[in-house]
Amino acid sequence: MAKSLEDGRVDNERSPAFRPLANPEHPFAHPAEHEFAAFLDFYRIRWQYEPTSFPLRWEDDRVVEMFAPDFYLPEQDLYVELTTMKQSLVTRKNRKMRELRDLYPDVNIVLIYRKNYHELLSRFGYGAVDITSLRPDQIERVLLSAAEIEARVKDLGREVSRDYAGSSIVLVGVLKGITFFLADLARAISRPLAIDYLQISHDAGQDVVHISKDLDLEITGQHVLLVEDIVNTGVSMDFVLRSLRERNPASLRVCALLDKAERRLVPLDVDYVGFTIPNEFVVGYGLDYHELYRNLPFVCVLKREVYESDQPVVDAPHTAATQSEHR
Ligand code: IMP
Ligand code: MG
Repeated sequence: MAKSLEDGRVDNERSPAFRPLANPEHPFAHPAEHEFAAFLDFYRIRWQYEPTSFPLRWEDDRVVEMFAPDFYLPEQDLYVELTTMKQSLVTRKNRKMRELRDLYPDVNIVLIYRKNYHELLSRFGYGAVDITSLRPDQIERVLLSAAEIEARVKDLGREVSRDYAGSSIVLVGVLKGITFFLADLARAISRPLAIDYLQISHDAGQDVVHISKDLDLEITGQHVLLVEDIVNTGVSMDFVLRSLRERNPASLRVCALLDKAERRLVPLDVDYVGFTIPNEFVVGYGLDYHELYRNLPFVCVLKREVYESDQPVVDAPHTAATQSEHR
């Protein structure tokens, strides 16, 4: 399962460990470009600075006018040209953009105004960042971008499909953090499969865990893949695995999107790991804090003051008072 990733990050035995992006210092022509690069880095959106010059005008065989858009975002296959509000500049840039689109109809390019960067995010499915569920100043940093997650989930789907060649699978998701990961993983798997869910809860004030919603399907004799959002101490997964094993499935494996391996108290074999991450509280892509932040398309570390304050920063939907859902 070990492999090295295209961008130079190296896998450990079973999963890519999280690493900060290391973009080289660039000699930007304009402070706005520097600012934009920092903005993209924050959201872990990959970029290249002025990688391509497009010839726009020729005299005889000589190129007499070129256009080098400021940035290229390879994950979005999008060129970005930054501009100020100055009308003369906008007019000139708009003309170049028109010419570029005429000559190179397959090239995607946008002209964006300085400080309008967040508008760009909504194009990448980052719209949730701007709504009341999360203010950008509550994010310590983005750990995994939507594009990184998508690519890794596809990889996992391929691995699972290969390992289960010739058989069908029952995917068992542990609610509720699994919502998005399971939906994406299931569609990346090319084997026939059934989906079922269970939910576990902590009894208020005690360490005892119990199943609060059990499976609907019989799994005896089936190939079961337990799908988890995150393995931390391993206590919850150990509990779920014991319960599933008692039902005598033909096989039982585990796939976890995130692994905080250094926090493990119960030794567990996790067969498929999306990413090994540091020991920090993360939200997004299904993971919550007080039921919030699940709909963020990326996984991010919340600022400490957000989760260490007793009150959730924004009103959370009501949850049962006597029983706290474990996930
Ligand atoms: P464990 O029993 O300590 O392994 O905890 C696993 C469960 O705790 C996960 O399924 C999550 O519901 C929750 N959890 C652990 N770490 C995080 C986190 O960083 N963010 C959100 N939920 C977490
Ligand atoms: Mg939770």
